[in-house]
Amino acid sequence: MAQVAEADVLQALSAVMDPDLHRDIVSLGFVKDVRICGGHIAFKVELTTPACPVKDLLRDQAHAQVAALEGVEKVEIEMTAQVRAPEREGPLAPGIAHVIAVASGKGGVGKSTVACNLAVALAQSGARVGLLDADIYGPSIPMMMGTSGEQPAFENQKIVPVERHGVHLMSIGFFLEADKAVVWRGPMIGKALQQFLGDVEWGTLDYLVVDLPPGTGDAPMSLAQLMQLTGVVVVMTPQDVAREIANKSILMFRQLEQSTGKPIPILGVVENMSGYILPSGEEVSIFGKGGGKRAAEELGVPFLGSVPIDPAICEAGDIGIPAILTAGESVYSRAFSHIAGQVAARISTLTR
Ligand SMILES: Nc1ncnc2c1ncn2[C@@H]1O[C@H](COP(=O)(O)OP(=O)(O)O)[C@@H](O)[C@H]1O
Ligand SMILES: [Mg+2]
Repeated sequence: MAQVAEADVLQALSAVMDPDLHRDIVSLGFVKDVRICGGHIAFKVELTTPACPVKDLLRDQAHAQVAALEGVEKVEIEMTAQVRAPEREGPLAPGIAHVIAVASGKGGVGKSTVACNLAVALAQSGARVGLLDADIYGPSIPMMMGTSGEQPAFENQKIVPVERHGVHLMSIGFFLEADKAVVWRGPMIGKALQQFLGDVEWGTLDYLVVDLPPGTGDAPMSLAQLMQLTGVVVVMTPQDVAREIANKSILMFRQLEQSTGKPIPILGVVENMSGYILPSGEEVSIFGKGGGKRAAEELGVPFLGSVPIDPAICEAGDIGIPAILTAGESVYSRAFSHIAGQVAARISTLTR
């Protein structure tokens, strides 16, 4: 019987293409630790994100390719991931590989909801994830993640994030008295963000999701100045006016890109509250169909997915357990997982 050689295995695997990176998994360096014992072949496929949306597809194709080789009886594949960090300068939070800002032109579109579910979905895939509530005017992450009233600990003069649902959390809400309004001036916002990045013990993170306050004010500017953002997720709702506002938000980041001299890619647009799913499974579009996708095309940025209106999403936020964790198989939990996969895949293509 023919003895299988490592070169044959690699040759077979070089037919497996990563659809996002447009290259085969061998030349991308994803195939590791090939072990051959008679007709028994084992190897690892190390992806650039555990949230890879085509993980199963790649595993199946790799399996089929190797199994088809003459003399192969058994194929064992371990799927792993190593998030690749870009080179970043600056002393702030050096252990954070990627910073994802979640932005919108106005409040109430579901930015915090998307930020929480995105963070939890990435964490569920096996990534190390932080969530920074930079919405200093209306911090809602503590409530949505079920950590209201908790106080972060201090260790070695650093603030230790509160951990919940597998995500490391920090919010100005942990330090404010309930129901007390704070008047923030521009320089204070920058100072607060600087502390959240510099004085918090984030440790090693694959992704830090930042929930920005609505609008085009001081917070996005300070954040972009303080650190290199991997990219921005813009949340919008399907109405025309929301599209205008999303456009403004994107323009602001393009301006910031110019003024800071750092690239700030728009990872894409999420359309939230897109329609209502009837018990029959049929979707009723309240504001017309496909608006988010069209808006993304018009704005020249990727479309990451849409999330329907569902009272369960609102209830989940109120009880502090993000919807993606309370739902079994539902349209919205699939939507959030899909969006997380798209975001992770976009980041992988940017940091190749
Ligand atoms: N897809 C959705 N379906 C139903 N309710 C939603 C949905 N998305 C957000 N909500 C609810 O709408 C309100 C505003 O969402 P939030 O995430 O706080 O918006 P923002 O951060 O943009 O101000 C919250 O009560 C939230 O639970
Ligand atoms: Mg919010």
